[in-house]
Amino acid sequence: MRISVIGCGYLGAVHAASLAHLGHDVVGIDVDPEKVENLSAGRAPIFEPGLPDLLAEGLESTRLRFSTDIADAAGAHVHFIAVGTPQLAGSTGADMRFVDAAVASLIPHLRGGDLVVGKSTVPVGTAARLAPDIEAVGARLAWNPEFLREGYAVTDTIAPDRLVYGIADGDDIAVDELNEVYAAAIESDTPVIVTDYATAELVKVAANSFLATKISFINAMAEIAEVTGADVTKLADAIGYDKRIGRKFLNAGVGFGGGCLPKDIRAFTARAEELGRSDSVAFLKEVDAINLRRRERVVELVIERLGGSAFQKKVAVLGLAFKPNSDDVRDSPALDVAVRLHGLGANVVATDPEAIANSRRLHPQLTFGTVEEALAGADAVVVVTEWKQYRHLDPREVAAVVANPLVIDARNCLDAEAWADAGWEYVGLGRRPLSR
Ligand code: UDX
Repeated sequence: MRISVIGCGYLGAVHAASLAHLGHDVVGIDVDPEKVENLSAGRAPIFEPGLPDLLAEGLESTRLRFSTDIADAAGAHVHFIAVGTPQLAGSTGADMRFVDAAVASLIPHLRGGDLVVGKSTVPVGTAARLAPDIEAVGARLAWNPEFLREGYAVTDTIAPDRLVYGIADGDDIAVDELNEVYAAAIESDTPVIVTDYATAELVKVAANSFLATKISFINAMAEIAEVTGADVTKLADAIGYDKRIGRKFLNAGVGFGGGCLPKDIRAFTARAEELGRSDSVAFLKEVDAINLRRRERVVELVIERLGGSAFQKKVAVLGLAFKPNSDDVRDSPALDVAVRLHGLGANVVATDPEAIANSRRLHPQLTFGTVEEALAGADAVVVVTEWKQYRHLDPREVAAVVANPLVIDARNCLDAEAWADAGWEYVGLGRRPLSR
């Protein structure tokens, strides 16, 4: 099948490369010439495990190519819209400019019978708004939300745990076409949910709202644990054994970040307000507030444990990405903690295996270094992204290079006993500090 993918960011680049891997003839289109040049040379614009291999495979087979010219979408039969919907500056709503521009620029190149497929996360009602202009040129629209997790984006795309097709009334052909697109990815037990536009759009924001709520729920329990001497990690294990609850997404810590969860819950709240249903999702404001409070708490703990001030204290910040296996620092709690500590006069040296370049672009005032440089002579070590490299640090070796063995484990990812045994004052979130 001939396919175009409009937008080659986190979502589109992975989607285009994955569809080529699934056997299609794919052109990825992006307005950014540098991105297109890099992708055309097989260089992934983001750190995403597996993506470089898929790019190399697709380019070599010539099934995959990239272009800045939207006219190159002509000739494809299915056109995916995979541009970003970031948070609007000065508002909580989603910025729809990129989706609107992508669709408007695509329309003159559509042929009768073509299928346009929205993948971007959008406010409910968007597909219904866009469909008439697409139908006016004899093409059709479907909405097929993406559930990929950064760090696992390739696996999630080529082996999805479910597929959702939002289609126009009676457009059964769209179902067949989408099944053909994903034929090589659909296993006999892969659920395919065929529904209307609004449900498909809502599935995505509802899923992300649920995940965000689960994280903020356990972080709220962490707040209670902190004043009662309880241990939130044991609590999460205990409630997680209830199959109706499940242990996943119950890791208390510095909270969620990234390009999806924070902006999606805010955009959903804004959309519900427009729909006159702000009460229905009022709890999401609380979810957001709990999440942001955890960042403050980490900073507060550093100050408290340093005796009341971080001024001129050397603080090693381990981690900048919003989660491991990613170089993404959008709304990253880790980067936020580094910036706040720097703002309080601490000598922050921040490190990350992949996210230093992106962090420096946003916050050139910070000092970045290797993990060794960060740890040398540190008065406090703060682990804010649970990269494997940090989880596997040897507490005895690290104790030998710091000035003061104080570790704030903002992801509850270290072995508290082992660190305490090695002479550290161990401070997790939602659990009692530990020292021998
Ligand atoms: C999320 C959704 O999982 C995905 O389905 C959707 O398509 C896009 O948004 P992603 O942003 O890649 O994916 O990251 P995810 O793994 O969901 O983690 C989000 C944030 O929550 C991270 O900052 C992570 O550290 C944090 N988190 C996750 C917790 O704080 N605790 C947990 O238990 C789980």
